[in-house]
Amino acid sequence: MERVRLYDKTFKTFIPHERIMEAIDRTAAKINEDFRGCTDNPVLLCVLNGSIMFTAELMQRLEFNCELVSTKLTSYQGTGSTGKVKQAMGLTADIAGKRVIIVEDIVDTGNTIVELKKILAGHEAAESKVCTLLFKPDSYTKDIPLDYVAMEIPNDFIVGFGLDYNELGRNLKDIYVLDEEA
Ligand code: IMP
Ligand code: MG
Repeated sequence: MERVRLYDKTFKTFIPHERIMEAIDRTAAKINEDFRGCTDNPVLLCVLNGSIMFTAELMQRLEFNCELVSTKLTSYQGTGSTGKVKQAMGLTADIAGKRVIIVEDIVDTGNTIVELKKILAGHEAAESKVCTLLFKPDSYTKDIPLDYVAMEIPNDFIVGFGLDYNELGRNLKDIYVLDEEA
């Protein structure tokens, strides 16, 4: 098992790259099924920074015409949620009247999703769906349905494939979990 050190913490391999790719294949297939033949050019909303790798992989697998819009939200500090979600960068394009697929790296407490749904409603999106690479069901406290979940994980802190610990670890190809023994 491979270990990586980020600042004061050690992480060990948790989900290898190939398994991430398989999960993205399955998720893209479901989205393609739901959107096949559409002519409205739905929007993929990349939630920076964590979602950058997932969005890039997902997009390559989508078989309908779609647009890409980004925004940036922050809520985490170190290994925990602050409970407050801040929009650090607004939507990069107008989404009024469009169907939007929110592309998230991970849904944890769900605070970010609630905020995103509000932002999209405020900008008059026609519809918004949620697609997340990872989901921590034991931590989720909201009742907004998650339309596409690539992988469910226990309530542990992870990094890699876009996810960070104080901005480090995003470049890792695999997903790592905090090694409590180290
Ligand atoms: P939520 O608002 O609590 O659902 O948290 C969502 C955001 O917190 C995600 O988009 C991530 O940026 C961050 N986050 C949640 N869990 C983790 C984790 O285990 N590692 C790194 N970032 C995380
Ligand atoms: Mg995020």
